[in-house]
Formats: sequence, C-alpha cells, structure tokens
Amino acid sequence: MTLKPTFQDMNVYTDILPCRTAVRGIQRNGGTVGLVPTMGAIHEGHVSLIRAAKARCSHVAVTIFVNPTQFAPTDDFTAYPRPLEADLDSCKRAGVDLVFTPTVETMYPGARLESRTSTNVHVSGLTDVLCGPRRPGHFDGVATIVAKLFGILPADAVFFGEKDYQQLAVIRQMVRDLNIPIEIVGCPTVREPDGLAMSSRNAYLTSAQRTQATCLSRALFDAAERIRGGERNIAAIVDGIREGIVSAGPAQIEYVDVVDSNTLDLLSIVDRPARICLAVRIGSCRLIDNVGVDAPPTPR
Ligand code: PAF
Repeated sequence: MTLKPTFQDMNVYTDILPCRTAVRGIQRNGGTVGLVPTMGAIHEGHVSLIRAAKARCSHVAVTIFVNPTQFAPTDDFTAYPRPLEADLDSCKRAGVDLVFTPTVETMYPGARLESRTSTNVHVSGLTDVLCGPRRPGHFDGVATIVAKLFGILPADAVFFGEKDYQQLAVIRQMVRDLNIPIEIVGCPTVREPDGLAMSSRNAYLTSAQRTQATCLSRALFDAAERIRGGERNIAAIVDGIREGIVSAGPAQIEYVDVVDSNTLDLLSIVDRPARICLAVRIGSCRLIDNVGVDAPPTPR
C-alpha cells in the first residue's frame, strides 16, 4: 500500500470541504494525519512541530490562519506578519503534505467579528490565571478556532509548542471535556542560540530590544537553577526574575508567576512539578516564555 495515496506534492486548500475530504482520504487509505495549527510566519519552532508530526504520522497537515477572534481590538491583528508565499515554501521544504489556509470569511462566514461567532468554546479555570485575565477573550478565540480546525481537519494527532504553555493546557482540557478524538502532543520550546524563545512576534523587536529580550530566558533559567538548588520560596524566586528583567532595560512586566504544571494553580512554595511563566512587554512587543521545574527540590 502506498503511504501517500492522496498527495504527489504539497496540496494547498482554502476551502473547507476539499480539505476535510483530503484528510479523510488519507485515513481511509490507512494513513495517519499529524496536524500543526499555526498563524503563519513559520519559523524554526513551527518546523520542529512539523518534524515531530512527521516522526509520528504518515502525513502532515499545517493550517495557516491569523485568527481575528483571539486578538483584542488593541492587539496586533492587522500588523501580524502574513508572509504566505515564504510560509508555503517553508512547509514544502519541511515535507508538509497539506496546507489549509482559509480566509476570515471562510472561517467566520457573515460574522461580525466584534460579536464573534454564535457558538464559542470557553474553558474555565485554566484561563483565570497568567495570560487569561490580561487578554480577556483570547483563550475563547483560541479554543473556538482550534475546535473548528479539528472539525475541518479530523487529524489523528495535533502538535503544539510548550512556548504557549497555557494554550496547550487549555486545548488539552477542551479535548478532554468535549471528547474530541485527537491526541494532543506538546513539544519543547525552540530557542535562538542566545536563549530567546522563537516567536513570530520577535520580528517586532528592534536590534537593541532583541538583545535586551535575552534577559527573559536568562532570568527563567537562573530561577529554575535556584529551585533545583533547593530554593522553595516563590516570592524570592519571582523577585529574582523581576530584578533580572528590570536591570536589562526598560520593560513592562505583565506577570511573573509560578504555577502547578498540570492545573496552572498559582503556587507559593515549590512542592510539586511547576512551571515558571512570564509575560513582558519590551517596546511594543509582548513576549511570553516559561520553563518547567519537574523535580521537587530537596529541602535546604
Ligand atoms: O499558537 C498559535 O499560533 C495560535 O494560537 C493557534 C493555535 C494556531 C490558534 O489560532
């Protein structure tokens, strides 16, 4: 049996029906589909997700859609980079079989975006911390578009980066709660050689801000090291991170929090596997990053 019955080359779909038919065709022929949802501006972080999908599934599908409902009116929806030709080229070079790149009208037909869709997915609890309160409606927009994409591309597994750790947790919860038959695979954050987490939004940074932004991962790695060294007091850890960021240059810290890796409950001492998460604005660029501390520290 040929493993790639449907595609001689990479197929690009803008319409829902042929895309769903293509995915189902692969599966009917015994193949499996790994899905990598993106908003485009494909970088090495996305490519690592594509590689993970290729290692696990016979076919890889990528979606490219800048989803308006996850942006607030003051966010960067209009400015968000949309280098479609370069993205398709990156997908092709990475060995992607199928790309779905719909228009806003296809995904939200006739909808007035300010009123969003009639049906929205809201995942409670996990969205009450970290980015949730700072970006009202953001995770509803994410959960809703991801649920829609799962309906259009009924893949076997879907791959998300841990860089958006809260997003990954929200989607895992949504899939559990709604019994969506798709495996969620979290993949490690891909970093630049100097530690900065890869993100399409890094393109907004000036060269001085780009240098300054390395303070985020440095502060997170230092904090993780302190925890591994026995520090349990989160106030002390958070103070250290804030100091590391502030001393690197002008920045607006939205939050630095340490949460339970699974529930995202805020912690005040590190007594279980934890995630140190932060969101910081440098210039007009909002950056998020996080690191995991999986082993509970030994007491000092
Ligand atoms: O992580 C992203 O790029 C987006 O939030 C996603 C999951 C593609 C939904 O628009």
